[in-house]
Amino acid sequence: MTSGNRLRSSASDLFTPRSTNRAARKAARRALIEATARARDTADRDLAHSPAAEAEMAAPVYPAAGRPGPASARGGRLKLRAHRMTTAVASGAYPFLAEGGLGADGIYIGRDVHAEASFTFDPFSLYGKLEGFTNPNVLLAGVIGQGKSALAKSLALRSIAHGYRVYVPCDPKGEWTPVATALGGTTIALGPGLPGKLNPLDAAPRPDGTAEDDWAIEVRKRRLLLLGSLARTVLGRDLLPMEHTALDVALDAVVTTASTTARTPLLGDIAGILNHPEQLDAAAGAMSGRLGDAAQDVAHALRRLVAGDLAGMFDAPTTAAFDPRSPMLTIDLSHLGGSGADTALVLAMTCASAWMESALADPRGGRRWIVYDEAWRLMSHGPLLERMQAQWKLSRGLGIANLMVIHRLSDLLTAGDAGSRGRALAEGLLADCSTRIIYRQETDQLTAAAGLLGLTGVETQAISALQRGRGLWKVAGRSFVVQHALHPHEARLFDTDARMH
Ligand SMILES: Nc1ncnc2c1ncn2[C@@H]1O[C@H](COP(=O)(O)OP(=O)(O)O)[C@@H](O)[C@H]1O
Ligand SMILES: [Mg+2]
Repeated sequence: MTSGNRLRSSASDLFTPRSTNRAARKAARRALIEATARARDTADRDLAHSPAAEAEMAAPVYPAAGRPGPASARGGRLKLRAHRMTTAVASGAYPFLAEGGLGADGIYIGRDVHAEASFTFDPFSLYGKLEGFTNPNVLLAGVIGQGKSALAKSLALRSIAHGYRVYVPCDPKGEWTPVATALGGTTIALGPGLPGKLNPLDAAPRPDGTAEDDWAIEVRKRRLLLLGSLARTVLGRDLLPMEHTALDVALDAVVTTASTTARTPLLGDIAGILNHPEQLDAAAGAMSGRLGDAAQDVAHALRRLVAGDLAGMFDAPTTAAFDPRSPMLTIDLSHLGGSGADTALVLAMTCASAWMESALADPRGGRRWIVYDEAWRLMSHGPLLERMQAQWKLSRGLGIANLMVIHRLSDLLTAGDAGSRGRALAEGLLADCSTRIIYRQETDQLTAAAGLLGLTGVETQAISALQRGRGLWKVAGRSFVVQHALHPHEARLFDTDARMH
C-alpha cells in the first residue's frame, strides 16, 4: 500500500506494495512460500527426530483436528492467514474490547460493567502480580451519598472471611459501630463524658528479637513524634528548636518517674511538667537558655488535651484492652461535636491513630485494613498527613492496606498551595495509592480529577455520569467500571439513609 510516495511496510503479505512490478511480486511470494515450507519441514524434522522433545510434550487432550463433534468448529480445513494491523486500526475494527479483568483471586466486589463479569479485588494478591502495583493502599473518592462508605464496609466485611482484620481509627459519623458489633468486633467511643479512654503514649509491645534498649529508643521516637504533631496541630505552626527540646526533656523526665512507679506515662504528666518552668529548667540540667519560659506555648497547646474540650479522653490509662484477635476495631469519634470543630477531630484522630499504630506494629499480625472514612476532613492538617504518610510507608512491611475515603480529588489540594509541604504530602499519599476508586464527581471537579489521576477523556466523561454504587477503578493504570453489589443484609447494616426514610 502506498501513502504518498512512501511505502508503508507491513508484515503481512496482504498488503503488497503496488510500486513493485508483477514479476517481482510473484518472486517475493514464491520466496515466502518456499521459506515457510522450509521452516515447517525443519520444525517437523526436529520434533520427529528428537525423542527428548517428544517426551517433554504433554499428550494432547484432543486430536490435531480439534475436539470431535459438529460444534467443534475445527474441521482442520479452515485456514486463515494471520492478519496484522496497527492498534489504531484494531480499535476501529474491534471497538467493543473489554478489559480482561484482574483474575478471580480476592474479595468479590460486584460486576465489571464493561466485561459483564464478576469483579474481585485483593490488594495483597495483586502485589507483585500486576505491573506498577507497588502498594496495597486504596484511595476512594466521590460525592456524598454515592456509596463510598458502603463499599468500604463491604470490603471490610468480606475481607474478614479471608482472614483479614479491619481497623477504623477515624469514624467521625459513628456509622461503623453497627458493622463492628455485627462482626463481633470492638468499638471504642470517645467523647466528653463517655467511659472510653485511650492513652496515646501506650508503648507498643516489644517485638521478638528486638533488644530492650533499641525498643526503648523506638518507643521514645514515636512518643516524641506524637507530642510534636499534637503541639503543631493546636499551635498551627512548626515548633521552635527550644520547644522541641522542652518536649524531649519533659518526656524523658515523665518516663523516668513513671518507670519507678511502674505505670505508663500520661499526656497530663507531660503537660504538668511543661506548665512548671522551674521543673523543666531543673530537668534540662546544663542546657543553655531558660527552657521553662520557651515552652509556654507548647504547655498551653497540650493543655487542650488535658483540661480543654478533649479533657479526659486521652490523658488516662486506656480502658479497652487491644485484642489482636478481634476481627474489627473501630474508634467512634461522632460524639466530638459539630463539623466546625475539626481541630478537636484531628487531635482525637492523631491520638487514636498513634495508639492504634503502636498496637498494630506487630509484623505477625496478619493482613489488615486501616480505613480512614471521611478523611477529607483531615486533609488540611499537615502534621496529621505527615504521620499518616510515615505510617503508610511502613504499612507494606506490616501487611497493612490503608483505605482513605475523600469527597473530591481537590480535597487533596486543600493541604496547601502548589509546591508547599502540605501539598507535597497529600500528593505523596495519592502516589502511595496504587488503587484509586472514583465515584461520581461534580462537573466542576472533573478537570482536577483528570489532572491528578491522569484520566483519559472517556474515563473523565464516565465519572461525571456514574450512578450510586458504581465507580471507576484505576488499578495500577488498568481501568474498570464496577458496580458494587450489596447483599440485602449488608444494605440493612450499612444503611446511612435510615434517618431520611
Ligand atoms: N451498591 C449499592 N447498591 C445499593 N445501595 C447502595 C449501594 N451503595 C450504597 N448504597 C446505599 O446508599 C446510601 C448511601 O451510601 P453511603 O455509603 O453512606 O454513601 P457515602 O459514604 O458515599 O456518602 C446507603 O444508605 C446505602 O445503603
Ligand atoms: Mg460515607
